[in-house]
Amino acid sequence: MNHETRAPEMDLASPSCHFTVLLSPTPRAARLARLLTTEQLRQWGLPLDTAPQIVAELATNAATHGRVPGRDFRLALHVVADTLRIEVTDARGDRLPRPGRPDGDAEGGRGLLLVDALAHRWGVVPGPLPRKTVWAEVRVGGAGAGHA
Ligand SMILES: Nc1ncnc2c1ncn2[C@@H]1O[C@H](COP(=O)(O)OP(=O)(O)O)[C@@H](O)[C@H]1O
Ligand SMILES: [Mg+2]
Repeated sequence: MNHETRAPEMDLASPSCHFTVLLSPTPRAARLARLLTTEQLRQWGLPLDTAPQIVAELATNAATHGRVPGRDFRLALHVVADTLRIEVTDARGDRLPRPGRPDGDAEGGRGLLLVDALAHRWGVVPGPLPRKTVWAEVRVGGAGAGHA
């Protein structure tokens, strides 16, 4: 274990479909969020084509725009039926995601457009104060598994 992460918590009630981890708001921890997601999906036998990329974008945002020094962000993965729900909770409930315009020519502002393109749906849940959760869902079962 390194200083940037705590041990993943497994939900013993349903260990095969729930995963959470607390991570420091750093670029390194955002990369770790993606790696942990890939490993967890592999263990669950789920497709790796879209979810790790979505986690990378949401975790990077949590570690930059949602960063509060000393406050962890949380990655959670839940599988319910044919849907994988990704949740990234950060400590900046006072700042909300603002996707760029698809035709915008700015360098940044494309991460959420990518999430929007890859996810079946996504959104933001405020609270509990001072936090917020940015979530995205992808289909992981049946026809078209892993695609929006
Ligand atoms: N977790 C977050 N907390 C606060 N603001 C966010 C968060 N995620 C995204 N945003 C806001 O939405 C904008 C667009 O995010 P994104 O599309 O990922 O582009 P980028 O990260 O390159 O700016 C960000 O510039 C930021 O203002
Ligand atoms: Mg971003």
